Amino acid sequence: MTEATKTILNSETIPQVDIEFMNNTHADEVQLVNNLGELITRFELADTHSEEDISKITLGLKAWFDHTVNHFERENKLMQVTNFPAYGIHLGEHEITLNKFKELINTWEEKQDIQYLAEYVFSEWPNWFNNHVNSMDMATAYFAVMNGFDIENFLKDS
Ligand SMILES: [Fe+2]
Ligand SMILES: [Fe+2]
Repeated sequence: MTEATKTILNSETIPQVDIEFMNNTHADEVQLVNNLGELITRFELADTHSEEDISKITLGLKAWFDHTVNHFERENKLMQVTNFPAYGIHLGEHEITLNKFKELINTWEEKQDIQYLAEYVFSEWPNWFNNHVNSMDMATAYFAVMNGFDIENFLKDS
């Protein structure tokens, strides 16, 4: 993938929702993805790759996956405690994305296909993330705040 075709999100300019802990999680995720993106770009430009280069990317992918599991669990719980009407749709998007991540990690471990990975990290994922935050996350946060969601209690329990 050439540099000109890569979409790299900026944690300071991603869409904002009405709940601060969600925005913080999103900003952390963008940072994790950008770190991984730098490893991918270095890998693409290098002529040879050591085991260490490969495992750095594997670790970056796994850290991103773990972060995303927690991110989605928290939002799912938020939807449950506030009785968000579109719970099923939002949950469904989370599940599809986690399955995609699992597939991505498995494929990377099997084939080390850097172009396949780059395509997801620099194109498919940024589009998905912007759309998801702008629709599902935004509606979830708005609904929670409008219905008097008790953020202090929620954070104590989670
Ligand atoms: Fe989110
Ligand atoms: Fe979400």
